[in-house]
Amino acid sequence: MIKKCLFPAAGYGTRFLPATKSMPKEMMPIVNKPLIEYGVDEAIQSGIAGMCIVTGRGKHSLMDHFDKNYELEHQILGTKKETLLEDIRATIDAASFTYIRQKEMRGLGHAILTGHDLIGDEAFAVVLADDLCINPNQSVLAQMVALYKQFRCSIVAVEEVPENETHRYGIISGQEIKDDLYRIDNMVEKPESGTAPSNLAIIGRYILTPDIFDILKNTGPDKNGEIQITDALLTQAQDGCVLAYKFKGKRFDCGSVKGFIEATNYCYENIYLQSDTHS
Ligand code: UTP
Repeated sequence: MIKKCLFPAAGYGTRFLPATKSMPKEMMPIVNKPLIEYGVDEAIQSGIAGMCIVTGRGKHSLMDHFDKNYELEHQILGTKKETLLEDIRATIDAASFTYIRQKEMRGLGHAILTGHDLIGDEAFAVVLADDLCINPNQSVLAQMVALYKQFRCSIVAVEEVPENETHRYGIISGQEIKDDLYRIDNMVEKPESGTAPSNLAIIGRYILTPDIFDILKNTGPDKNGEIQITDALLTQAQDGCVLAYKFKGKRFDCGSVKGFIEATNYCYENIYLQSDTHS
């Protein structure tokens, strides 16, 4: 069973400056719901109740969001507007939230290592909230949890990307062991143009076995001083097994302005306008 989900949310979100100067990127709304809430709801839909959030300076609003706001509740009590708080109330009731600070921004691998004390010695999920994944039938994380129950090893979600975009991602190569599932034999973080081992890019959903923490402790920084989860996963793949899963569903890169706008348009049409609360 996967009981906890780690949300690395300490990054600066520089691509959205000045919006992210004092507001966490993870609090940017897709229509009327912050990115992080989509991620938490996806974890809840996957049977996970423990949300472990890695934060940094200036991220207080993340904690406030997953807490009661008594003044607001009192103000709208008994009015029609109360229905607008139903979703977030349900989210808060369905999960527990714990937080830890990443003191220095030393990369995604370092952010995950920072979460060790919250996770302990068990397999766990990782969600990067700026990758918004949508599948109304079975969430992407739920698909991965089901695979974990079968294979009991680390799993990364991958998506085919155009060749001219491979330099923006961690790229894997491996043997397809069944439909849409690969056993990884190589991984390269942001390969230079023309050198990518495939067009399968790692996106922001992972299931990790706890030995990853020891591997991360022994993983040196890259040329930019960042500890990359890709390097640790390659070690894990070479010593044992890491799977890559081509998930079913849509993914929007909300860390980029283009992806953020596409997600907003999609969610407005397909979620917001369809919901009773707003009709
Ligand atoms: P990004 O590479 O998207 O970085 O991090 P960023 O700072 O959020 O955004 P830009 O590139 O400056 O616009 C991927 C994920 O890893 C987290 C980020 O919060 C994001 O969810 N992260 C990254 C950390 O938590 N700590 C780090 O040191 C680096």
